[in-house]
Amino acid sequence: MDTTRRETRSVIDVRGLRKRYGTKQAVDGLDLRVDQGEIFAVLGPNGAGKTTTVEILEGFRDRDSGEVTVLGQDPASGGRAWRSRLGVVLQDSRDQVELTVRELVRHFAGFYPAGRDPEEVIDAVGLREKESTRARHLSGGQRRRLDVALGIVGRPELLFLDEPTTGFDPQARRSFWELVRSLREDGTTILLTTHYLDEAAFLADRVAVVRDGRVVALDTPDALGGPQARRPVVRWTGPDGTTHAERTTHPERLVAELTANGALDGEAPGLQVEHPSLEDVYLELIGTAAPTTASTTATTTAPEGSTQGRSTEEVAR
Ligand SMILES: Nc1ncnc2c1ncn2[C@@H]1O[C@H](COP(=O)(O)OP(=O)(O)O)[C@@H](O)[C@H]1O
Ligand SMILES: [Mg+2]
Repeated sequence: MDTTRRETRSVIDVRGLRKRYGTKQAVDGLDLRVDQGEIFAVLGPNGAGKTTTVEILEGFRDRDSGEVTVLGQDPASGGRAWRSRLGVVLQDSRDQVELTVRELVRHFAGFYPAGRDPEEVIDAVGLREKESTRARHLSGGQRRRLDVALGIVGRPELLFLDEPTTGFDPQARRSFWELVRSLREDGTTILLTTHYLDEAAFLADRVAVVRDGRVVALDTPDALGGPQARRPVVRWTGPDGTTHAERTTHPERLVAELTANGALDGEAPGLQVEHPSLEDVYLELIGTAAPTTASTTATTTAPEGSTQGRSTEEVAR
């Protein structure tokens, strides 16, 4: 037996999931597998079907068809014991509660025999200063952190986070990321949806991009999109002042060629080699990248550093 291979156990298994609301096919044949102990991010534009999928996995929503297993059970028939192994942070939680932060965290902790210490959880989400504030008086970002506290206080094996950091300031986001990583260290499996590419890049072991209710790409953040999409873009300004952009797996060869044939002079004005970011690859995958150009040398008029037109020219080489 091969003992070098990492033994992985799937915690979530989804095959051919479908869900329709009226005439809207929200989830349209979605496949997904999440392994034990990983942080798995689901990326996709608004309306892609992320929340619907997550709610089906949580057992909050019925599906039309497809096979779904979460922690060994079909969520449609998951009982209390199964549910107590899940932590859930919904996309929207607007209930106006009169209880304070501490009261709420303690109250939720009471449901779970092997839960976390409520005081540790309050510290972990950075709500110590707000422990005596009523939930309905919290700011959006603080309320979100309370949601997370309630999601993790039961020490779940599997944690669902649907857009957890919407409304966070950069500092709160950074400390939330550290918290999520520490949960993974504790052995928690995490399924996260997010709009933030940097969040997925920082946190996720693997990323699925969902579009129109289907997974269109699934890989590690570094490899998403495949080698073609990851080719660097070389940009330069020619002797006549026009700017050029070209994709190539060998930027150093291209620069040498351009120099040899006089397309670049010694000063090499505007010469840059740019590696596509996760965001660039994502925008191509969901089809909102700037139009592609199919000449050998794409001429771009996009201003330097603008997101539009960045690394999006597709050039046949
Ligand atoms: N309860 C609902 N009733 C009718 N349509 C819905 C409902 N929930 C979501 N939808 C529609 O289903 C599609 C997918 O929505 P959703 O799962 O919320 O996507 P996401 O979370 O990726 O933004 C959208 O077109 C949305 O308008
Ligand atoms: Mg959503």
